[in-house]
Amino acid sequence: MQITVRVGDMLRESADLAVLAVIEDSPLPMSVARLLEPDDFRGLAKQSLLIYPRGAIAPRRLLLIGLGKAGLLSAETVRQTAALAAQKAQDLKATSFALALPTNLALDPAVVGQAFAEGAKLGLYHYLRYKTDPHELVNVTSATLYVGSAADATQAGALVGLSIAGGVTLARDLVNGPGNAITPTVLGETALVLGERYGFAVTVLDKAQLTAQGFHGILAVGQGSAQEPRFMVIEHGSAAEGTPTICLVGKGITFDTGGISIKPADKMDEMKMDMGGAAAVLGAMQVVGELKLPLHVVGIICSAENMPSSNAYKPGDIIGTLSGKTIEVLNTDAEGRIVLADGLFYAQRYNPTAIIDLATLTGAIMVALGPHATGMMGTSQELADRLSRAGEVTAERVWQLPLWDEYRDMMKSDIADLKNTGGRYGGAISAGGFLASFVGDYPWIHLDIAGTAWVERATRPYYTKGATGIGVRLLVQLLRGYVE
Ligand code: BES
Ligand code: MN
Ligand code: ZN
Repeated sequence: MQITVRVGDMLRESADLAVLAVIEDSPLPMSVARLLEPDDFRGLAKQSLLIYPRGAIAPRRLLLIGLGKAGLLSAETVRQTAALAAQKAQDLKATSFALALPTNLALDPAVVGQAFAEGAKLGLYHYLRYKTDPHELVNVTSATLYVGSAADATQAGALVGLSIAGGVTLARDLVNGPGNAITPTVLGETALVLGERYGFAVTVLDKAQLTAQGFHGILAVGQGSAQEPRFMVIEHGSAAEGTPTICLVGKGITFDTGGISIKPADKMDEMKMDMGGAAAVLGAMQVVGELKLPLHVVGIICSAENMPSSNAYKPGDIIGTLSGKTIEVLNTDAEGRIVLADGLFYAQRYNPTAIIDLATLTGAIMVALGPHATGMMGTSQELADRLSRAGEVTAERVWQLPLWDEYRDMMKSDIADLKNTGGRYGGAISAGGFLASFVGDYPWIHLDIAGTAWVERATRPYYTKGATGIGVRLLVQLLRGYVE
């Protein structure tokens, strides 16, 4: 999609669809007010009205969208408004649209441009890979944004926003992709493609290499599947004095049946989304490459398929890990923490400034926070605060849970170093307590995205049912905060 930013009067330019975004109870331009009955449109949040001006103004169609109260206006308002505008254009089979924002917005121009681009591109996202009928959705190919001033800075922000939305799109496509198509092998190939395109150093370890190098956690989880596990490292930039090294670790279970501790059939299909952490890491790495961020960023993905079979790992098994620590497997469905144990331990070799893992790790986090926030816990309050701020800016909000020693104690085994379940109560946090054993003393944050990576219905205008691509925008915002 092409985005053009202009300073000017949208109502004097021809357009298939012109969209006027209006702050609550602010006066409408005279040429528009004349077309309405007073009070039909007040600019309340989520209010909208489509008008056919029949030559009274230049555009053929005019959509009014309410922004709500001026004091509550944020980048998220712009993002959601852009998504609504783009979707209306698509509904009306218009290939282009223009949106005019209030000229006195108290937001940074680059932030406005970025939010507009993100909302417009993500609002048009549909997963159509497996639809064989040519569908009747038009391609909305161009969008024009009218602002009061600073067109150049807004335009620059829009280009950044398009790159970021591209990373989110990659993550959504991977998560929406079915388990028979998106296997650990395919995630490995995706990493290699990104490496070619952006010049990353990419390593993909196959089963033989994992065995030779002692990745016993990933191997155990993957051993019941005909699909071989993969471990991958995607490195952007390099370690240098004064350059932060950030490790991003993703859970990449391409399908989670639960294994021998098998899940119920109902909604098991949704467990194709259990690689949402890996998808977020891949999407974020793509954006890091596009924006050429002057940082050392290391994407690490632990990928396997969790299946029951005569070769599968079993409840009661005791397995090793890359770290040498042993795990008593009490439930084969608590597999994410086992593959992450190897990935988190591996991350330490980069002497990182920060380690952040993303994982669709527990049903318990969905009970705690529902679909509106990602669960967060870890060992560095400074890093947690950075992520909280990034969550506010992107509206990919995170909410911190405690990680006191008692939660780590819940994961001690009688006969091995650790057990992989700590009981029902506090299940999201005890999972974090398990992971904490593998990060040494490095600043580390765990993000449990089980509730936010997938939505049963579009809870925001720029979401569709299914994958949200959560984590990509959050991580990019965090990383940009380390630049300078
Ligand atoms: N992938 C699941 C967690 C999950 C559940 C993600 C629902 C998305 C939606 C994870 O591997 C899992 O099965 N966790 C278990 C852990 C339990 C056995 C300790 C859970 O949460 O039930
Ligand atoms: Mn599981
Ligand atoms: Zn899982």
